[in-house]
Amino acid sequence: MSATRFSESVSGSIRDGVLVVTIDNPPVNATSAHVRQGLVKALGHAVAVGTVFGIVVTGAGRTFVGGADIREFGKPPVEPTLPEVMERIENCGKPVVAAVNGAALGGGCEIALACHGRIAGEAASFGLPEVKLGIVPGAGGTQRLPRLIGTVAAIDLIGSGRTVRPDEALKLGLIDGIAADHLSTAIALARGMASGPLRRTGGIEIAPADASAVEAAAKKVLAKARGQAAPAEAVRLVRLASQASLQQGLAEERATFLRLRDSSEAAALRHVFFAERQAGKVDKLEGIALRKVETTGIVGTGLMGAGIAVAALTAGYRVVGLEQTPEAATKGRDRIAGLLDKAVQSGRLADAVRNECLARLEVAADAGRLATANLVIEAVFDDLAVKTELFQRLDGIVRPDAILATNTSYLNPDEIAAATAHPERVVGLHFFSPANIMRLVEVVDCKATAPDVLATALAFAKKLGKLPVVCGVTEGFIGNRIFSAYRREAEFMVEDGAAPEQIDAALEAYGFPMGIFSVYDMAGLEIAWARRKRQAATRDPNARYVEIADRLCETGRFGRKTGKGWYDYSSGERAIDPEVTALIEAVRASKGVAPRSFTSREIMDRLLRAMADEGKALLEEKIAARSSDIDLVMINGYSFPAHKGGPMFASEAVA
Ligand code: 3HC
Repeated sequence: MSATRFSESVSGSIRDGVLVVTIDNPPVNATSAHVRQGLVKALGHAVAVGTVFGIVVTGAGRTFVGGADIREFGKPPVEPTLPEVMERIENCGKPVVAAVNGAALGGGCEIALACHGRIAGEAASFGLPEVKLGIVPGAGGTQRLPRLIGTVAAIDLIGSGRTVRPDEALKLGLIDGIAADHLSTAIALARGMASGPLRRTGGIEIAPADASAVEAAAKKVLAKARGQAAPAEAVRLVRLASQASLQQGLAEERATFLRLRDSSEAAALRHVFFAERQAGKVDKLEGIALRKVETTGIVGTGLMGAGIAVAALTAGYRVVGLEQTPEAATKGRDRIAGLLDKAVQSGRLADAVRNECLARLEVAADAGRLATANLVIEAVFDDLAVKTELFQRLDGIVRPDAILATNTSYLNPDEIAAATAHPERVVGLHFFSPANIMRLVEVVDCKATAPDVLATALAFAKKLGKLPVVCGVTEGFIGNRIFSAYRREAEFMVEDGAAPEQIDAALEAYGFPMGIFSVYDMAGLEIAWARRKRQAATRDPNARYVEIADRLCETGRFGRKTGKGWYDYSSGERAIDPEVTALIEAVRASKGVAPRSFTSREIMDRLLRAMADEGKALLEEKIAARSSDIDLVMINGYSFPAHKGGPMFASEAVA
């Protein structure tokens, strides 16, 4: 069985009279120009050779095909285009079957859709995640998928960009079978098809769909779009599939794809895609041996600790939680079990996995139980004395090679580390609440943190499925420092004449799910107030300080939980409160400020500038390693709209 090379990344060999074409284009077998050229040549070869009955397309390594080569976007087009390749596959005179060994995403899924049959291996997955890149599928996905699985399911998959495993793909009708030996099964299917008429996806008539179900699926997608263009376009194109001919649908899809590909939204989301893959990479840690982590200790099983415990349990770790009393330990265990139950109820976790997680969980009131932990994360009250005392105590309990991580938000972890016998094993793991859901973790590289401790903390966060961003020591780390600068600017504008609701409206129109003053009200105003009171003595008396938030707190307005904050919630809805307006006017008057008007544009420009300037300071101080890390922190921790790329990207795009 000799291999024929069709291009640098595509080769083929004959098995049982079938040409098995393998795409080998690491890292993810993207459809780069040489892949497209190789596939066309392979099809031509198979058609020309009389002894070949059919073709099977598969991928080398863990991926089938990860999609179009995103790095080619924006470069001059090279023939053949991906839609041309699909057309060749679909119209091939001999059967073409996809043997899907791994992820078939975007253009990879579209290759599978254009084939005459699809067999999935157990590690396969399918998805058209283009909307997450600000585009729509551009090689037939919006037209062929509904022909296979119907309009409603296609709107859901393409509109959300979600990925499905083989069992769901089979149920949907996206594939013809699942097989452990997917290659042999695909070869047999291709041989079997050789004698009959081929089922060309583009020729399938779309099953009529219930109009209200289509409407509901579309509504669900659009509700999550928050001003992005791609999801709405994806829905429009899927609907078009049942209204127009295949050729018309494909032409409209291509035109939309090309238009969106060159949009600022797509550029921003591509930036985020590559930023995520860069995050957590640290040159100095290249090749460093990691410490072993099997058991995670978690001190404090309140909301944050329980969330971290759930993240660690679902990632397969053994977890030992520590509480101060047996009663608190029971409560902590219940809290963790409750979060696992919720995950089962919402379909995020299988019932059996929940039970496995519980079997790996222990919550004790005896600190000695942490003796086996390889990594202990504290999630106790954010107080320096409490944390230093705890770490000193842990020093005498944990293994000599154990890592101690602090989840502090505002304290200086160098001070916590300095109080321990081995500061080199202390690192910061700043999770965001709820820690089982939020992806962001700031991994704080303290003054004395040993390189293997930092590398292990990063690997741990990644294993938890989190997005770790490395951060140096500074008050509030990357996120809270930028948030403070942004909050300060928002309050300056309120003092100068903007209404809080006007600032919130500008942020929401920009793409934030909620404006900053509404966020305050939701989080509660009292913690920040307590911090401001602590900082009052050391605050620069010449620095501008806006007292409005303090005045609100002094009257017991702590946000939603008290029914009042920056807004009034007594009707159940967020409402402008004349009392707050009067309070703001009084503060302005006391400072002699003549209020002026602001446009939404000016509000956003000033907020973005404040964030970007603080970001630049973080880069200069070497607290953040790269500006894309700052963008990720703001997108994943503070709801900055991903389709704007983050504050650093957005400010560069404007500049
Ligand atoms: N194009 C170019 N490079 C890509 C790529 C792509 N489509 N997908 C991944 N890469 C690169 C990453 O940037 C990374 O590079 P690096 O090592 O230099 O940082 C490398 O491949 C490995 O990527 P991951 O770290 O993400 O690898 P994983 O093994 O964790 O995941 C994957 C593999 C599931 C395929 C994941 O990479 C992924 O989701 N990729 C993107 C899928 C996607 O969005 N496809 C649609 C593309 S658009 C399209 O197809 C348009 C079409 O309709 C015309």
